[in-house]
Amino acid sequence: MDIYLDNAATSHPKPEAVLQAVREALTVYNANPGRSGHRRALEAGRRVLNCREEIAGLLGKENPFCIAFGFNCTDSLNLAIKGSLRPGDHVISTMLEHNAILRVLSGLLRKGGIEITLLSPQDGYCIDPEDVRRAIRKNTRLIAITHASNVTGAIQPVAAIGQIAREAGIRYLIDGAQALGSMPVNVDALGCQLYAFPGHKSLLGPQGTGGLYIDPEIELETVREGGTGSSSDSILQPEERPERYESGTLNLPGIAGLLEGVRYVRKNLSQIFMGERETTTALWEGLREMDGVEVYAPAEEAARAGIVSFNVGDLSSSQAADALDQRGIAVRGGLHCAPGMHRLLGTLQRGTVRASVGHATTFEDVEALLRAVRELI
Ligand code: ALA
Repeated sequence: MDIYLDNAATSHPKPEAVLQAVREALTVYNANPGRSGHRRALEAGRRVLNCREEIAGLLGKENPFCIAFGFNCTDSLNLAIKGSLRPGDHVISTMLEHNAILRVLSGLLRKGGIEITLLSPQDGYCIDPEDVRRAIRKNTRLIAITHASNVTGAIQPVAAIGQIAREAGIRYLIDGAQALGSMPVNVDALGCQLYAFPGHKSLLGPQGTGGLYIDPEIELETVREGGTGSSSDSILQPEERPERYESGTLNLPGIAGLLEGVRYVRKNLSQIFMGERETTTALWEGLREMDGVEVYAPAEEAARAGIVSFNVGDLSSSQAADALDQRGIAVRGGLHCAPGMHRLLGTLQRGTVRASVGHATTFEDVEALLRAVRELI
């Protein structure tokens, strides 16, 4: 139908097995996982457990119970941040963040009681880990940073920051929205205790899925309480993880689909990683060569996730994105819910056009975009 270069918002296409799994969950064994004890419910529960196992494995962990499902990455970031911070705490984050972090922190600030330091990248794209070290205070409770910017694609030095967090004994949260499923991620190597991820982006699952890796050693308050199907004689939220953080019926069709998406990713991760890197580079190089196009992405290939932001001539990003849509190319224009990043780029009014590749993006797709941009110029 069209050339799809909006994978940073939602990946497309999904593997066939994902589509089948969603259908099967709604037909063959449709039931409530973790509630009733009949065979359908047990089968539903098994898929949920398998999905936890696959995601834990992708993150380099064996314990499936360190994965708590949420509605999406934003939901899981809310849990990670609100579950960690108390009045009097200081948090270090960055201007690169998506509103999924910035608004949560701003909300806590307005309620009163927390202190926030927002770091800016000195080179325009990547945070200097030493700036994180310098920002640490006695009451710093949390460091929260995106793995890769959803505007520029710039991969942050998350392992180096993890080392600093570890030395200082500070809890470390990574927003993996633009990373997990696109590149190898090992939470122990990164030194984080919390890693949030969406299911519908590079993990190739349906929308309405996502989750949080929670280090079993850390305390994390709940932000949502209710029925878990366990310890039902008590009106207190159970301590057992992950159900402590998963009140209410889970999104079974979504999680069943996500299970197949993660299986596909685990089987093909190196090809996905290399393929996305090559198509992103082709995109970056092609756009950089064009007079009249401004590109906002780091120059170093290894520092780029599968995202390239740009602007064309005097067009606003929405005008350019609309014009590309009319030519059959789906990209996203605007601020991408990351106002701080646009403040730094000087694009707060205009936004950027964002092209983002996925597991199925081809060089022909990239060529088609480049041709269409040339026409716009
Ligand atoms: N957060 C998603 C994006 O960057 C929706 O487009």
